[in-house]
Amino acid sequence: METIFSGIQPSGIPTIGNYIGAMKQFVALQNQYTCYFCIVDEHAITVPQDPQKLRQQIRGLAALYLAVGLDPKKATIFIQSEVSAHAEAAWIIQCNTTIGELERMTQFKDKSQKNGRTGVSAGLLTYPPLMVGDIILYNANLVPVGDDQKQHLELTRDFVERFNKRYAQKNQEILVMPEVKIPEQGGRVMSLQDPTSKMSKSDSNPKGFISMLDEPAVIRKKIKSAVTDSTGIIEYDPENKPGISNLLSIFSAVTERSIDELVTAYEGKGYGDFKGDLAEAVVALLAPIQERYNQLLNSDELDDILDNGAEQARLVANKTLQRMKNAVGLGRKKRR
Ligand code: TYM
Repeated sequence: METIFSGIQPSGIPTIGNYIGAMKQFVALQNQYTCYFCIVDEHAITVPQDPQKLRQQIRGLAALYLAVGLDPKKATIFIQSEVSAHAEAAWIIQCNTTIGELERMTQFKDKSQKNGRTGVSAGLLTYPPLMVGDIILYNANLVPVGDDQKQHLELTRDFVERFNKRYAQKNQEILVMPEVKIPEQGGRVMSLQDPTSKMSKSDSNPKGFISMLDEPAVIRKKIKSAVTDSTGIIEYDPENKPGISNLLSIFSAVTERSIDELVTAYEGKGYGDFKGDLAEAVVALLAPIQERYNQLLNSDELDDILDNGAEQARLVANKTLQRMKNAVGLGRKKRR
């Protein structure tokens, strides 16, 4: 069976963008692959975090993983910082990656342009190697993510090729080459307030995103105030009508109805009707998830699942890490 790895940062409460782009895929794929789903807390500290809040968010994200339907019998669910191989692998990867490659990453460019080079941590620059490590430690063949992670996956593939070429002995590959998997619909859910930019859990304007823990009244209000256009015609045209097109793709992702089907169903109807129905569909999706989340959040069951997950993850990750150490010549002798 092929292997999947993916992760989400506990840097805020996940949005329906995270759900549609990532979590929904995780749930669907767990039946066909050996899966590792990680709460990537080490990534979250590349920007300042309140320690107490971070801990709550780590636990909250783990509870959400389960609440959306990830099954610990099928998938290994764990917290990145509880598996020390991630930080160790990241060091080896950094030493085999150039500063030029990292400075080209759009996320780094955006944030460092906004805050200046002295206003961002070195971790923000070296974060992609940590992500490369996450993926390769589990020998992942496939990485389900949203569209914004494509560049990081390309870096991962470049790294694997280079590392294998540089260190493979007798043509035996050390690391597995991963493929990216982006959903056809909903790979890039846009902000409700600015449909030309990505929906983000760190948006300073909460009206731009729907958090997975938003209450029904809040969801209805946010969708009602979503930016559209003045034509009043429900059609899918992301370039000229980004607002309504974004709402159509959210509607499609949460109901499994195709965009064509939705466009036909809403022919001749106004944005008001459409938004009302979309809000109810989002509420219907999130209400049972929120209920399970609240049951799980403070349970011992959650701790047991995460303890077991970390233990299983360590077994696999430490083996790959040792192969990497052997390859580059760290320590006194090769180990198995
Ligand atoms: P993060 O935490 O920003 O986002 C988690 C996942 O959600 C997807 N996503 C979206 N998809 C569609 N529309 C959106 N508006 C949207 N916003 C976020 C992201 O593409 C991602 O799949 N670097 C990663 C976390 C990470 C990771 C990994 C992922 C660390 N190591 C290894 C895969 C494999 C990140 O910051 O995701």
